[in-house]
Amino acid sequence: MEKENRFYITTAIDYPSGKPHIGHAYEKIIADVIARWQRKRSREVFFLTGTDEHGQKIERYAANADKSPQEFANEMTEKFLDLCQVLNVSNDDFIRTTQKRHIDVAQTIFKKVFDKGDIYKDTYKGFYCVDCESFYLERDLTDGNCLVHGKKVDWMEEEGYFFRMSKYQQKILDHIKANDDFIWPESRRNEVISRLQEPLRDLNVSRSNFTWGIPLPNDKGQVIYVWFDALINYVSGAGYPDSERFKRFWPAAVHLVGKDILWFHTVVWPAILMAADIELPQSVCVHGFINLKGEKISKSTGSMVDPIELAKKYGTDSLRYFLMREISFGEDGNFSEDALIRRINSDLANDLGNLVHRTLTMIEKYFQGSVPEIKTDKLKCIKAYVLAAGLTEAVDKEISVYNFSQALAKIWEAINAANKLVEETKPWNLSKEGKIDELGVFIFVMSYVIDKVRENIDCFMPQTAVKIVQQFQPGKIKKDKPLFPRIQDDKLN
Ligand code: MSP
Repeated sequence: MEKENRFYITTAIDYPSGKPHIGHAYEKIIADVIARWQRKRSREVFFLTGTDEHGQKIERYAANADKSPQEFANEMTEKFLDLCQVLNVSNDDFIRTTQKRHIDVAQTIFKKVFDKGDIYKDTYKGFYCVDCESFYLERDLTDGNCLVHGKKVDWMEEEGYFFRMSKYQQKILDHIKANDDFIWPESRRNEVISRLQEPLRDLNVSRSNFTWGIPLPNDKGQVIYVWFDALINYVSGAGYPDSERFKRFWPAAVHLVGKDILWFHTVVWPAILMAADIELPQSVCVHGFINLKGEKISKSTGSMVDPIELAKKYGTDSLRYFLMREISFGEDGNFSEDALIRRINSDLANDLGNLVHRTLTMIEKYFQGSVPEIKTDKLKCIKAYVLAAGLTEAVDKEISVYNFSQALAKIWEAINAANKLVEETKPWNLSKEGKIDELGVFIFVMSYVIDKVRENIDCFMPQTAVKIVQQFQPGKIKKDKPLFPRIQDDKLN
C-alpha cells in the first residue's frame, strides 16, 4: 500500500465557497487518523490538504459577497486553515490552487497533454451545474435538477478544448480490474466498473464565459476547467516534477475523498495522469456523507453546526472520537449535537475519564503515588490484562482495513473490562484486609490497561493521549482533573 517506507495521503481540496462544515471536518479527521497511525508504524508520511479556489462557483459566491474572487477565497481559506488547526490535523502542507507553484504545474500538464494530441478544440453544448462544477447530460438530471444539489442546472454552449478521455477508457478499466485495492470500498469499485461499460465521453477541459481560473497555456481567452486544475493539486502539492519530495512520495498511497467525487478521482484523474505519463496513485478511498437529521447538509444547516465551534465547545478530541466512532467508515452517517453529548458523557466521561481518574486516586491512596511492578502468571487469568496485551495488534488489524469504529470498540472493550475489574476486585476491601499483594496485581493491571489504551487512542485523540502520559509519570503519578467533564444533558431531546 505504500512506496517503500513512505506514505503519501491526501484529502480532497475544499471549495472555499463558504465556511467549512462538519463534512469537511470529517474528511480531515479520517485522513489525520490514518496519517498519525502510519507515522506510529514508522512510515515517513506526507499528508496534504488544501483549497480549490478557482471556477464559476467561487466567482459567483464572491460576487454575491461583493468581493473579488481572490479576496473572497483568501478570507474563506483562512477558515479552512483554522479548521485544520482547531481539529489538530497534522497535515504537512496546505495547497491552494491560486498559488504559483500550482498554477505553473497545472499549465505544464495541460500543455503536455495538448502537445501529445490528447486535447482538441470543439464546441460544447450541454448542461452545467455550478455547485458541482460538472457537465451533465439530460438523462443525468431529474426535472432539470442535478442529483447532488437538487438545483436547476445551466444550459451551456461554448467553444472549448476537449480532453480525449475516451482513449484511456480500456486502460483505466484494465487498471481497476487488475488492482483490487485501487478503489475502496468494493461497492464503489463495482459502481465505477459498471459505469465504465458505457462509452466514455471526452471531457470539456476549458471554460470561456468567465475568467476566474488558470489561463490555458495555448489560448489566453480560456481558463482551465476547474476539475482539471484541482486534481493536479495532488502532484503540484508534492512538487511535481523535479522536487525531492515528489520523487520520494509519488505515487500517493491514498486519495481520501467523499462519494460524490468518486468519478473524478477514479476515472478523470487516472486519464489525466496516463496522458501526462505520470504514475497512478495506489488507492482512492471513499467515505460516505454526514447528514443532519437524515438530511443533506445545506448552506443554512451547515453553518448551524460549525465544526470549529463544536470543537471549541466540546473539545477537539471529543469531536474526533465521536465522528470516528459513530459513523461506519464508507457509509453515510448522522451528526447531531445530542448524540455527541451522549457519547461524551458515556464513553468519554464515564468510561475512559473515570477509569483514569479512579486509577490515579487508588495509586495515590494505596501505593503513595507509584505503580508497583508486578510479574506473575496470575495476570493471564485477568480479562482486562489479556485484552490490553492484545490491543495494539487488534486495533492495527482494524485500522489497516479502515474499520475505525471497530478499532475504537476494541479499545473500549479493554476500558470496560478494567472498570469491571474494579467492581469485581473491590480494592477497598483488599486494603482493609491488608491483602497488599492482590491489591498490587490489581493496580498494576489497571495502569497497564490505561497505558495500552493511551498507546492506541493516540491517533484518534492525540491530546488525550498526551494528558494521560502527563498524569502517569514513571515513578510518581501526577493526578489532574478528570479528562472529560460531564456535559449537562438534561436538555437532550
Ligand atoms: N473541490 C472539490 C474537490 C476537489 S479534489 C481535487 C470538492 N470540494 S467540496 O468542498 O465540495 O468537498 C470537499 C470534500 O468534502 C469532498 O471529498 C466531499 O465529498 C466532502 N464532503 C462534502 N460534504 C460532505 C458531507 N456532508 N459529508 C462528508 N463529506 C462531505 O468537492
